[in-house]
Amino acid sequence: MKSGIGKFPRLAVVLVGDRRDSHTFIHIKLKACDQVGIETVASQLPENCDESELLDVVSGFNEDPDVHGILVQLPLPQHLDEEKIINVVSLEKDVDGFHPLNIGNLAIRGRKPFFVPCAPKGCIELLPRHGVEIKGKRAVIIGRSKIVGLPTSLLLQRHHATVSVLHAYMKNPEHITSEADIVVVDVGVPNIVCGNWIKKGAVVIDMGTNQVKDPSGHGFCVSGDVCFEEAVKVASAITPVPGGVGPVTISMLLSNTLDSVKRAFGMV
Ligand code: GUN
Repeated sequence: MKSGIGKFPRLAVVLVGDRRDSHTFIHIKLKACDQVGIETVASQLPENCDESELLDVVSGFNEDPDVHGILVQLPLPQHLDEEKIINVVSLEKDVDGFHPLNIGNLAIRGRKPFFVPCAPKGCIELLPRHGVEIKGKRAVIIGRSKIVGLPTSLLLQRHHATVSVLHAYMKNPEHITSEADIVVVDVGVPNIVCGNWIKKGAVVIDMGTNQVKDPSGHGFCVSGDVCFEEAVKVASAITPVPGGVGPVTISMLLSNTLDSVKRAFGMV
């Protein structure tokens, strides 16, 4: 980009409040951008900021031609209307792919969103790279969040899997999970999925990133939603936490940002 058109891609990140996990995620994202030559601009607002302040920050980035991607780290503090904020992010800079029009276009066959959310995109990237075919497979997604569960279900359907989405009101989720060829988990409860939920030879993608007390008693560590020690004995492939889907998700953010700047300069 620099030698071709004299421009660096630039990503704007917005962080509101003091959540430890959000700070960690933003730190990782900024570092990854730095490593690949994507410039960043970060805006940090206090926990008790007004909605109008946040909307102004996002609108400023929308209007700035040198910003090619905008990421508002979620979740936002309770008093802020998350949907309203996401709605304001410019469609063409929505590198998280959370804008309702991008999600809507992901849901409709034949349409193409500007961006696909990073974690689901990473999941789809991983499967074929590890020789896992999606077409015709039975996939179970545990969790229906707008960040992971919902867009992953749409993306897997696009790739011709038969998809079931399970959630907290499902009785005996292990029954249907144990029939799946591909299991994607994102519920935010450490080790909720046990080895006996998994069909022999199934592929397990653990999207959980739970900060739990370190067994040594010092500090915190990250744990997934799947009991890895049990599931690894029955699965044909499984992503560990940390180090599984997380780094791929970050790569997809970099890839979306690059796509965005290329589109802005008519290079795709
Ligand atoms: N919070 C947890 N994951 C994500 C993500 O991928 N994007 C944003 N904006 N917030 C998140």
